[in-house]
Amino acid sequence: NSGQKLACIILLLRKIVTDIHIYLEVMSIYGKKIIALCYWHYSVTSCLVPICSLYGAAVTTVEGIGSTKTRIHPVQERIAKGHGTQCGFCTPGMVMSIYTLLRNHLQPSTEQLIETLGGNLCRCTGYRPIVESGKSFSAESSCCQMKGTGECCLDQEEHESENKSDVCTKLYQEEEFLPLDPTQEFIFPPELMRMAEEARKKTLVFQGERITWISPATLNDLLELKLQYPQAPLVMGNTFVGPNMKFKDVFHSVIISPARISELNVVMIDANQGLTIGAGCSLAQVKEILTEMVLKLPEEKTQTYQALLKHLRTLAGQQIRNMASLGGHIISRLAASDLNPVLGVGNCVLNLVSKEGTQQLPLNDHFLAGSPDANLTSKQVLASVFIPFSKKWEFVSAFRQAQRQQNALAIVNSGMRVRFKEGTNTIMDLNILYGGVGSVTVSAKKSCQQLIGRAWNEEMLDEACRLVLDEVTIPGSSSGGMVEYKRTLMISFLFKFYLEVLQDLNVRDPRYPDVPNKFQSVLEDFPLTIPCGTQAYECVDSHQPPQDPVGRPVMHQSGIKHASGEAIFCDDMPAIDEELFLAVVTSTRPHAKIISIDASEALALPGVVDVITAQDIPAQNGDEEERLYAQDEVICVGQIVCTVAADSYFHAKQAAKKVNIVYEDMEPVIVTIKDAVSHKSFIGSEKKLEQGNIKEAFQTVDQIIEGEVHMGGQEHFYMETQSVLVIPKTEDKEMEIYVSSQDAALVQVGSSRIIISCEFEFVMIAAKNKDSVIAQTCLCLNVTRLIVLFLRRNNLPDNHGVACNPVIFSLVGLGLLFSGVIISLFDKIYFIFTTGYFRGYKADMDWVKGEGDVYPYFVYGAACSEVEVDCLTGAHKNIRTDIVMDASFSINPAIDIGQIEGAFTQGVGLYTLEELKYSPEGVLYTRSPNEYKIPSITDIPEELNVSLLTSTKNPIAIYSSKGLGESGMFLGSSVFFAIHDAVTAARKERGLTETFTMSSPATPELIRMICVDKFTDLVWSSFFFFSVYVFFATSFSCYQSLLCDFSVGRRKAVGVSVNHNL
Ligand SMILES: Cc1cc2nc3c(=O)[nH]c(=O)nc-3n(C[C@H](O)[C@H](O)[C@H](O)COP(=O)(O)OP(=O)(O)OC[C@H]3O[C@@H](n4cnc5c(N)ncnc54)[C@H](O)[C@@H]3O)c2cc1C
Ligand code: FES
Repeated sequence: NSGQKLACIILLLRKIVTDIHIYLEVMSIYGKKIIALCYWHYSVTSCLVPICSLYGAAVTTVEGIGSTKTRIHPVQERIAKGHGTQCGFCTPGMVMSIYTLLRNHLQPSTEQLIETLGGNLCRCTGYRPIVESGKSFSAESSCCQMKGTGECCLDQEEHESENKSDVCTKLYQEEEFLPLDPTQEFIFPPELMRMAEEARKKTLVFQGERITWISPATLNDLLELKLQYPQAPLVMGNTFVGPNMKFKDVFHSVIISPARISELNVVMIDANQGLTIGAGCSLAQVKEILTEMVLKLPEEKTQTYQALLKHLRTLAGQQIRNMASLGGHIISRLAASDLNPVLGVGNCVLNLVSKEGTQQLPLNDHFLAGSPDANLTSKQVLASVFIPFSKKWEFVSAFRQAQRQQNALAIVNSGMRVRFKEGTNTIMDLNILYGGVGSVTVSAKKSCQQLIGRAWNEEMLDEACRLVLDEVTIPGSSSGGMVEYKRTLMISFLFKFYLEVLQDLNVRDPRYPDVPNKFQSVLEDFPLTIPCGTQAYECVDSHQPPQDPVGRPVMHQSGIKHASGEAIFCDDMPAIDEELFLAVVTSTRPHAKIISIDASEALALPGVVDVITAQDIPAQNGDEEERLYAQDEVICVGQIVCTVAADSYFHAKQAAKKVNIVYEDMEPVIVTIKDAVSHKSFIGSEKKLEQGNIKEAFQTVDQIIEGEVHMGGQEHFYMETQSVLVIPKTEDKEMEIYVSSQDAALVQVGSSRIIISCEFEFVMIAAKNKDSVIAQTCLCLNVTRLIVLFLRRNNLPDNHGVACNPVIFSLVGLGLLFSGVIISLFDKIYFIFTTGYFRGYKADMDWVKGEGDVYPYFVYGAACSEVEVDCLTGAHKNIRTDIVMDASFSINPAIDIGQIEGAFTQGVGLYTLEELKYSPEGVLYTRSPNEYKIPSITDIPEELNVSLLTSTKNPIAIYSSKGLGESGMFLGSSVFFAIHDAVTAARKERGLTETFTMSSPATPELIRMICVDKFTDLVWSSFFFFSVYVFFATSFSCYQSLLCDFSVGRRKAVGVSVNHNL
């Protein structure tokens, strides 16, 4: 049982650790084996926890900590009352993460809170209210303290209002919160304590339908088992083996679990040499051990430890770090492993053990490359890892760049180490390892050898970059592509390393130059910061009776039920008698004729009841536009061809893989919008909205700007995927249908994936006639106020840009109407941008005649965002966003502000993070959280302020309210334009003043490659280099230094977007 949801809900394991975990208090006892008895509360990702590994552990799910029937736990109460739940699907996970933190730290720091929530995703709330609920347990102030002005963000004075007393900023009453009382928490069950003692003595064997799980009690038993089952994996955290078995069809009939072997969990410290950490220690424990070491030891000894810690902060999320073991991490040798490159350059040694004895194996490039002569044999087990202290003139650094700051595998990472001749800057030893650039961790060994004996200066850096690019090649077909970006990152990291070491050398000996001021920002990584901000709305009339909730920020009715796990979602519904599960079989072809469907193999599997195709539908098989099951032909990859019904979802899924469909490919294959346009393949009839005489306008305007804008699509990434439970009734052939969709009318039974995808071309007219934009004037005034306010507050320098462009985008038609408003502010020109789509009320529009009213009403809004871009890596940090929204009259400001923040965050994902990648045949590659990154807690602005405009009239809606829903999503584009602005500034510094195209999403790859510099030039020229090697070899001496006239580092910029939604 994984708690309430099938999605990865976090469990709290309160595990008896007897002798298998270390106790940090005794860490300072040098030279001793540290083994201690303790209990440890930790959160885990439930879907990766094998049930057999829970033997002897106490498991707590969200239902276990409190309920409406007994007593709500303060964590549950605060998330609900703090409006930290919307759809509620992520809520039990959030609750359990915060609860676990509180079991370990009664008054956690904000840093601990970020760490704890880093592995939890939420698609609805935008995280701010969740974080705030967690922060309410912290002793630290909840003030942002980020203004640089000494002002506090909680200061009511901040809110611009005609009448300040009308503005409320509290969405809940903290005074109402229940206090946290640790004495009320449950204790570890004594029977489990007793059971664990007994279980330690004997090997445990669990026999399943297909798999045998063996958990030995001693090292000797483990080594015997390795002899007996040489191919069986040793499962520690199961974060590598588990996903392979679940998603990649890897099968192991025997699994060995060495979790109870104390020898794999020791920590030894040799005061002269370094630290030995048991292979079974979790990455979370390794992080704590190293943190302790860094605090206690002189800095020069802990270079490798600090580099490891840097990566341990962002590696996966807290739940995975709690589960994953050091040994499992090293042995699985992921191509993008964050730790292996650092352990490798740090000269670590693997301590192996087998029935034949012990062996020391260097964790070097040979091991990481999987060379047969530097590998474990099938009989060997990794017992521990020796991580030596760094030496006096030795420097170690770690670098990584991922799609998202936290909880995302690195695109490229690196470990770099240099050792100098004592008291000099002459390189004695150099070691560089890269992850993410090949199928294994790759060494730049030859380059490093050539640089030995060189002084640490710019000439050395120039040559190092060229040598590395020459040595570490990335095949064009490499997984994930991004070849130029990865190569650029390789040398950008090298540059960062150069500067870091330069700075350290200067600290050791001031004879060596310090890092020039203009490069100082290169040395700073973006911090992992906790979001905060203010929410402002109109207070209700002081005469309104207290029992009247209209206009007040009231908790939504399901809040507590979400937080306590009592709300029943589709997947939670108890199984009914003779329930069957459907698994879909989808098309693997973009356009093909179905020649045959052979289900015989599937039908022969256990539990399978039937395979259903279009032929089995007694009535209509969907409609012309959308068939339920593909009939005769398929028109896209992923279209449902048939479904398999079985007695469990597992059986149905297994059988679905065995349905054999023969296709005959057909033409045309339409995969992109361009293909569709060229084949005139459109959905529905053309709908057009025109205003004025467009033909004439084109002939008379001053300028016609033509261009193309490409915008990526976006996966809904619902936490609760679409599912439906259908119960046939005995009477009148009725069916009872429970469906998770919001739009019951459009439910397609069996469909679990919905993708919004938009891509469009535009032609923009800089109109002389401003009639078309008068409607936006009021909105512009509000935006102007927002910009003025924003600039004034931040005291931003003049060269910071504000970009606003007007757009009205309507979902209802193909015609896009662009109109321009140009306002002048501080002698600068700003373009006001409006964008919107959303069909709310039924439109009264005759599309044939072009008469009527498409828009019942508009939602107005504006956002101003500030970002900082790292031009060397393409990373960006959302510093601040201010949003103003016209909610007309807000029936419940907490809900409306929650909708705005959540939608804005989804917009940030759409415009800056979420990238759909397809094969040429239209197969979506980015299908899981592993490949598709939605914003996580550290991706939202450090400061997010939302205010609702004072009440206006909206005669066609209840209480004059407005449906805010998705409208705030477009405000996320302000972050995109702020990035554009920052990139423009960076390019300008490099003399690149011409306009450039920046498509959405502004991913790190896109940002980095647009920030053209000497490194990108070098990467491009290095492609050329391969073909004309001789020419370049003779030209090296006159090649310009990388540092000449070169500016790198971080750029701040501001972007504004205005929202104008239907
Ligand atoms: C959601 C998610 C996010 C992740 N993000 C990152 C990331 O950002 N950066 C990153 O670097 N990694 C990341 N990872 C990978 C993660 O670090 C590894 O999966 C993990 O470290 C493996 O450890 P484990 O204990 O779970 O291994 P297991 O799955 O238990 O075992 C892995 C392999 O190691 C072998 N093994 C284990 N212990 C021993 C031993 N003592 N002796 C010999 N063989 C042994 C097993 O036989 C098996 O083949 C992520 C994984 C997940 C699931
Ligand atoms: S409330 Fe977080 S996913 Fe819906």
